[in-house]
Amino acid sequence: MTDFSMIDGELHVESLPLARIAAEVGTPVYVYSTERFQANARAFRDALKPLGRIHLAFAIKANPNLAVLKLLANEGFGADVVSGGEMARALAAGVAPKDIVFSGVGKTRRELVKGLEAGIGQFNLELVEEGEVLAALAAERGLTARAALRVNPDVDAGTHEKISTGKAENKFGLPIGEAPEIFDRLGKLPGLDLHGIAVHIGSQLLGLAPLEAAFERVGRLLAELRAKGHTITHVDLGGGLGVAYRPGEVPPSPEAYAEMVARATKDWDVELMFEPGRTIAGSAGVLVTEVLWVKPGQVYPWVVVDAAMNDLARVALYDAYHGFAAVKPNGERFVANVAGPVCESTDVFVKAREIDAVKAGDLAVLETAGAYGATMASTYNSRPLVPEVLVSGDRYAIVAGRISAEEIMAAEDVPDWLK
Ligand code: LLP
Repeated sequence: MTDFSMIDGELHVESLPLARIAAEVGTPVYVYSTERFQANARAFRDALKPLGRIHLAFAIKANPNLAVLKLLANEGFGADVVSGGEMARALAAGVAPKDIVFSGVGKTRRELVKGLEAGIGQFNLELVEEGEVLAALAAERGLTARAALRVNPDVDAGTHEKISTGKAENKFGLPIGEAPEIFDRLGKLPGLDLHGIAVHIGSQLLGLAPLEAAFERVGRLLAELRAKGHTITHVDLGGGLGVAYRPGEVPPSPEAYAEMVARATKDWDVELMFEPGRTIAGSAGVLVTEVLWVKPGQVYPWVVVDAAMNDLARVALYDAYHGFAAVKPNGERFVANVAGPVCESTDVFVKAREIDAVKAGDLAVLETAGAYGATMASTYNSRPLVPEVLVSGDRYAIVAGRISAEEIMAAEDVPDWLK
């Protein structure tokens, strides 16, 4: 793979020097590799192919850029969406409505109607009342909503607590023990075709055991529902596979995941649905930044870069680890902190870590930033919204422009009575 590599002592994305993109587009900037997106998508798809009837929906919250969605749609991926905005993006990128799954704990009536009118493939229901409202909205329009019930299997995913979703105390899904009764209730409603079960226990999972435990519980539920006469044709197994952020971290391979899924689902006779996000997008992007200053610290020097927590929020939010590397390393290393300019103590990307010895004016990257990077960016401190670039071979395109403070101010107003 030649997607992120050192050529003549400097970091390239495919055949383009990152320094050239930084010079032409400015920093900070997210840079993605088409080749890496395709390789990740194909590895996942090809590993799961032996499972038979499968449906792949990229969890677009991980990277909703339209170019990325189009690239993945070309690889056969539908979309898992969690808002009307994400649905609009998936449709705009050309994802077929039937390949869209609508997840999310708080869908509004307006969003449900939008999904119904677009003819999306599946609504993942989070509560009984949502099913009743959806059924009524569909019946009023002479439509039938295809839906799955999202269950909470009460399994500890073994990941950071802020990205765990499958424990009983989490807000997601319905208690799995209550599912049979809920199926009895919702299964009869005109306007609703409750054809499946959905489960998703968390993100950045580095072990398969919690997923397998959750799938076994879903298998028992499936048997129970069928014994009661319900027709279940789809099971949505969610996303969750982790990626390697730290040196030496080894996430499960798509093949190992597929083998576990095959074992856990062997007699199910359903269409299996998947909602991968991070495993497709994480390794496909970096955040390129320029070193502004190296400020002496009380203990370690502070490398102050022009990217900040508003551009990449994961470290501030989840104490996440992102590799930091010079674009043109000089072979020297030092122990330092790396921080952004935002006025918050939590705007620190790296704490007391050995990194490439960089100086003011050098370019560097925060690695593995293709998932939950640009999509979680904000304009806090009135910083511009960070742009995104997609590389393919020796060409690149700015697939999201930098939105300046002036452009953001243009959407604001001062009322007459203050003028
Ligand atoms: N399906 C559902 C219902 C989800 O809630 C999620 C992620 C996924 C699929 C995709 O999961 P993945 O394959 O990417 O693990 N912002 C956090 C991650 C939040 C994940 C939320 N749900 C982070 O930066 O780590």
